[in-house]
Amino acid sequence: MLARGTIARRTLLASLALIGFPARAAGAGGVDGLAAIGARAGVRVGTAATAAMLASPDLAALAAGQCASLTPELGMKWAAIAPEAGRRDWREADAIAGFARAHRLGLRGHTLLWHRSVPDWARIEPGASWATVAAHVAETMRRYPADEWDVVNEPIEGDGLRASPFLAAFGPGYVARALDEAHDADPRARLFVNEYDLEYASDAQASRRAAMLRLVRTLRRGGVPIHGVGIQAHLAIGRAAFDPATLRDFLAALADEGLAIAITELDVKERDYVLPATARDAAVADHAARFLAVALAQPAVRALTCWGLSDRQSWLAVDDADRARFPGAWADGSSPGFNRGLPYDSDARAKPLRAAIAGALIERSNMGLTRRQR
Ligand code: G3I
Repeated sequence: MLARGTIARRTLLASLALIGFPARAAGAGGVDGLAAIGARAGVRVGTAATAAMLASPDLAALAAGQCASLTPELGMKWAAIAPEAGRRDWREADAIAGFARAHRLGLRGHTLLWHRSVPDWARIEPGASWATVAAHVAETMRRYPADEWDVVNEPIEGDGLRASPFLAAFGPGYVARALDEAHDADPRARLFVNEYDLEYASDAQASRRAAMLRLVRTLRRGGVPIHGVGIQAHLAIGRAAFDPATLRDFLAALADEGLAIAITELDVKERDYVLPATARDAAVADHAARFLAVALAQPAVRALTCWGLSDRQSWLAVDDADRARFPGAWADGSSPGFNRGLPYDSDARAKPLRAAIAGALIERSNMGLTRRQR
């Protein structure tokens, strides 16, 4: 057995070796991609992707070289693929599924039922027919044989089920019904419920964690086909306190239910945009590292998806509220630029967050939490 100091030194050296190196395909040129580092730790590393991202040669190379799976950021949501009754637009989703196939990457289907992507024509409201939902689930899952699906996205609100159109139309049993439907459509797919704001120690997030646990326990006891929970991990510096034990206990409780856990949408919203870029990048990496040290120590965590790779294409923006927190800054007309919350900068250069992810995966390998040993 290695002494702790040895492990820490090795991890540090491995992390430093990765800082500043351009992306390479796994194993090429002596620098492993995150996918290969993750594979040694029993973790499938992936990214959210858009067709636009995969059409950019540098970002496509990153996706193929660093990742073992793709999640469509936009393209498989219901309102995206079925904008009007009877009309389907598969272009965006096809582009991502095709890239995954061509590069032998896994596919996480995202997402079948989400309150923010219900087409108007579907009229999911009291009195609605479940057949509309069933047809959508079957049609989408049969077109895209993804190995994992976020069947229900963000069902929690406050300390219970979200007051979504699905709840209003079909009652609290809709989550189980959707999972059953998904299992019928593709019995090989691993089915997830995916959720945000489960990571921090605030009272509000404690209520959300308790609600999620109640939901999955009810599903498991009812024999409903649920295989895992997605922890989105949209982290945010300074938004709420992070307590390692709180996250550790929550993940252990999910694992005790026999569920797999996927980190599904990792990114970091910044706070101190006035600092130099090096300090901003260090703060982002440090924040994520504290989360990852806990998350990746849980053997049931088998996947880590970043919500994009490069800051050039990120849903995280520097918004007016951010600017308002720094009166007088950027008065010369300059700007804070991008939110720097993804592993690669806007020129696709690796940042400390990339090294933090690699370091956390290596630490997990050193702990012996590989797939083979579990
Ligand atoms: O592409 C159009 C552009 O042509 C148009 O000018 C512009 C005007 O609004 O909109 C652009 O589309 C936007 C799209 O992102 C691409 O940037 C949509 O309006 C916007 O709604 C869409 O937001 C996405 C959001 O889900 C809703 O689908 C985000 O990119 C995407 O990151 C976000 O992802 C969600 C996960 O699915 C679930 N968890 C939270 C996560 C972040 O909100």
